[in-house]
Amino acid sequence: MKQIKYAIIGQGRSGADIHAKYLTTDKDRFKMIAVADPLQERLNHAKKTYNYDDSVMLYTDYHDIFKHKDLDLIINASMSHQHYPIGMEILQNGFNVLIEKPLANKVQEVDNLIAAAKKTGKVFAVFQQSRFAPYYIQIKKVIDSGVLGRIIKITIAFSGFSRRWDWQTIDALNAGGLRNTGPHPLDQALRFLDYEGMPEVVCHMDCANALGGGDDFCQLIMKAPGRPVLEVEVSSCNPYSPFLYLVQGSCGGLKATTNRADWKYFIPSEAPVITLSEKPIARDDGGPAYCGEQLPWKEESWDLPPEHADLFITISSRFYSMLYNTLTEGMPLEVTPEQVRQQIAVTEECHRQHKARVAGKPAFFVLPAVYGNKIAAGRIKSAKVKKAVKKNSGKPVFKKADKKNSQTKKASKKSRYKVRK
Ligand SMILES: NC(=O)c1ccc[n+]([C@@H]2O[C@H](COP(=O)([O-])OP(=O)(O)OC[C@H]3O[C@@H](n4cnc5c(N)ncnc54)[C@H](O)[C@@H]3O)[C@@H](O)[C@H]2O)c1
Repeated sequence: MKQIKYAIIGQGRSGADIHAKYLTTDKDRFKMIAVADPLQERLNHAKKTYNYDDSVMLYTDYHDIFKHKDLDLIINASMSHQHYPIGMEILQNGFNVLIEKPLANKVQEVDNLIAAAKKTGKVFAVFQQSRFAPYYIQIKKVIDSGVLGRIIKITIAFSGFSRRWDWQTIDALNAGGLRNTGPHPLDQALRFLDYEGMPEVVCHMDCANALGGGDDFCQLIMKAPGRPVLEVEVSSCNPYSPFLYLVQGSCGGLKATTNRADWKYFIPSEAPVITLSEKPIARDDGGPAYCGEQLPWKEESWDLPPEHADLFITISSRFYSMLYNTLTEGMPLEVTPEQVRQQIAVTEECHRQHKARVAGKPAFFVLPAVYGNKIAAGRIKSAKVKKAVKKNSGKPVFKKADKKNSQTKKASKKSRYKVRK
């Protein structure tokens, strides 16, 4: 069995407590050659905790790692703002690279990394290990089976209550809740959205208790044509987060935590036949009625198998199996840089909207009718938009084109709402 010779940059919670912790248990397939961290105490602590062999080199400057020309993989688990520059350096020095999330700050950086990997012919992978989470795989299985019918909305809430005071609250270090935690639910959400283009994104962020000023509340809604609404919450202000997943479908729904999923659905052919009534409906005794029926619900559930109780080890192991196959047999990556590029595009758009709001500017470049008289024309730079807002000032924001039109599915946004003249 080929052993992948690897080095890790960064010996923090990720570099030591996720990557080294897993890889030192998989010595048949992975051989540690070196680790780097500017903090000597981190190197010493990791060596002691995970029993690094005496042959493993400990460096305070990650550039020393590049001296090991026979490395098969360098893992970049440095701080978030270093992922792009150090990742680029690794590729340019001719090594395969695995970069921690968040991969980058901007789509342009992802494009540069993709181009560098293409140019050097090296493997460029991103550590989005939540793709292999048992609960996610189970939820996907239920949705793909079709029992829930057409999926209307998927809500994913990676939320809890906590205060933070570390560097991962500082926006300039490519941190904040959406970039720290967001890559996990976002990666999953984008798989459910299953849309290659840029989805519509509406995002609201806030900072309640994060000392660095980055977001610790983020509410994000994504939509694409013919796809369900995807709602992602990444919040540190939610002490009562009852679920991780909530799925709504035309034939039922699902709720899930990392350990358990419950879903209920009815089979349309087994349900009572219903017909549309254009007249008020009545009970048997003639009194007014509400639509009431007994649906033949079927209920199912799933529990996390005990052997997967350590979620981090389970998903790290599955991720590294995928990467091992890519490095040894050239198998395609299941988590592609192009998929992560879409995630970064969404994150970048969320931050653009947030910055615009903080600056008191409209978050969207939309028809002035959408904001209408609620926005002071003086805040809007575009002369065309200013003129339209001024014209609409003091008048209702929307004018419905006509009732009939607004109720047909075919009615476009343009025909449903007209700027009041
Ligand atoms: N995928 C996941 O589930 C997961 C979990 C935790 C953290 N992360 C990510 O891992 C990254 C690191 O986070 P963390 O929680 O380990 O942070 P941390 O603060 O615990 O560790 C970061 C480490 O990087 C080191 N470092 C700084 N500059 C360096 C340099 N030039 N060369 C080498 N090392 C350097 C620091 O000294 C520190 O030890 C973050 O981007 C975070 O988002 C991912």
